[in-house]
Amino acid sequence: MKVRDGTVKRSALTPFVIIAVAVAAVGGILFGYDTGVISGAILFITSEFALPPTLEEIATSSVLVGAILGAIAGGLLADRIGRRLSIIAASVVFLAGTGIVVGATDLSIFLVGRVLIGIAIGVASFVSPLYISEIAPPAFRGGMVSLNQLFITFGILISYGVDFLFSSSGDWRAMFALGAVPAAVLLIGMVLLPDSPRWLLSRQHMNRAIAVLEKARGTGDVFGELDDIKKAIGMQKGGNWSDLLASSIRMPLIVGLGLAVLQQLTGINTVIYYAPTIFQFSGLHSAGASIAATAGVGTVNVIATAVAVVLIDRVGRRPLLLVGVAGMVVSLAVLGAGFAFSGTVQGGSLLGLITAVSLMTYIASFAIGLGPVFWLLISEIYPLTVRGRAMGVTTIANWAANFLITVTFLTLVGAIGQAGVFWLYALVSIIAWFFVFRLVPETKGLTLEEIEEHFRAGRHPRELKGLP
Ligand code: BGC
Repeated sequence: MKVRDGTVKRSALTPFVIIAVAVAAVGGILFGYDTGVISGAILFITSEFALPPTLEEIATSSVLVGAILGAIAGGLLADRIGRRLSIIAASVVFLAGTGIVVGATDLSIFLVGRVLIGIAIGVASFVSPLYISEIAPPAFRGGMVSLNQLFITFGILISYGVDFLFSSSGDWRAMFALGAVPAAVLLIGMVLLPDSPRWLLSRQHMNRAIAVLEKARGTGDVFGELDDIKKAIGMQKGGNWSDLLASSIRMPLIVGLGLAVLQQLTGINTVIYYAPTIFQFSGLHSAGASIAATAGVGTVNVIATAVAVVLIDRVGRRPLLLVGVAGMVVSLAVLGAGFAFSGTVQGGSLLGLITAVSLMTYIASFAIGLGPVFWLLISEIYPLTVRGRAMGVTTIANWAANFLITVTFLTLVGAIGQAGVFWLYALVSIIAWFFVFRLVPETKGLTLEEIEEHFRAGRHPRELKGLP
């Protein structure tokens, strides 16, 4: 893996790797589908269980609470029992949670099921990218890990479609039941696949690690890569929570935690979860129009993420982040201005147009940058022996910030108005841009061990430049 011209790294794309990556990325569908499906289902659940607004909010956000719990447990699991078994356990918990939700006869049973689903998503949300990053060849790692994000956006879009399909019958149980399909695919697929070669080596399963690497690279000549991994393990003894305080991990943790929080505080999930409401604020009162506009947002999210998947190993992580976050700043500023000045222009229809266009550019900008690149970078920048735990901690911050933004959105709109809220997110996006500019490394084309070596030497993240 010391080859610098990229030829060896580029040639190493085998059917086995493609299948392993595609299966693990199905975790992204669970993530997207089950965070998205509630938006349509909640209307019917509220009426069946006669929920007042506070209980409706709890029913909506329970999956996020579960995801925080899942990320807490998942970090330890991923390092201890492995990436593969963690994903298998998450799929089983997901199926159990789905069964409970579908059969729920009252709110408390429903909540138990939703929290279980959340726990499973919390684990899968970072163990899937982690597994992919540890099995993918370096030259394709960015696109392959980002496939997980593509599947998240796909899951969200499918959930909008399913909500729409079942909206006339009001069958919310069927909406949730369909989530079992990708979970079963993930479960069966991961049972058949081996664990990541890096985790196997970190637990001294040498022969199995060699076998997986040979299959993954399509060659018997894997000893260079193997040596690099062994060296990285040897340098970084430990594997305890306290190792997260080591000075070599401080910088990666600052980068990871910063991106985790900024990915959410720039407002993405107010759009994902509340798009119909935002469209209604802007005067699109017909349900049909706001559903169509929401489907448009979901589609743009998928398409722009697909573009990122293609670009991420060519142009690199930093350019995508810098361009994407800049696009978010502009879109949010315009969206806020639309709401602030709509009274003085032609009112409803113009505001509707401004809202639709700026939400589309906002989501496209997120999808090309912060969406995929956050999950990718946190699977790349932590040292192997504590990678699961460090990613777990980072993922807790991401889900906690998601929860915070989601539960405060409507209250904030009441307090400072729509314009105020979108400008606030624009301000956070400006901070995010400078954060990226100053601190985020370029990891394109490098092996995970090269990245680890850089941080162990105590060097600044920005000095890491990636391969040209
Ligand atoms: C974020 C989610 C978000 C999704 C939207 C992910 O990267 O972590 O919170 O809902 O992107 O596409």
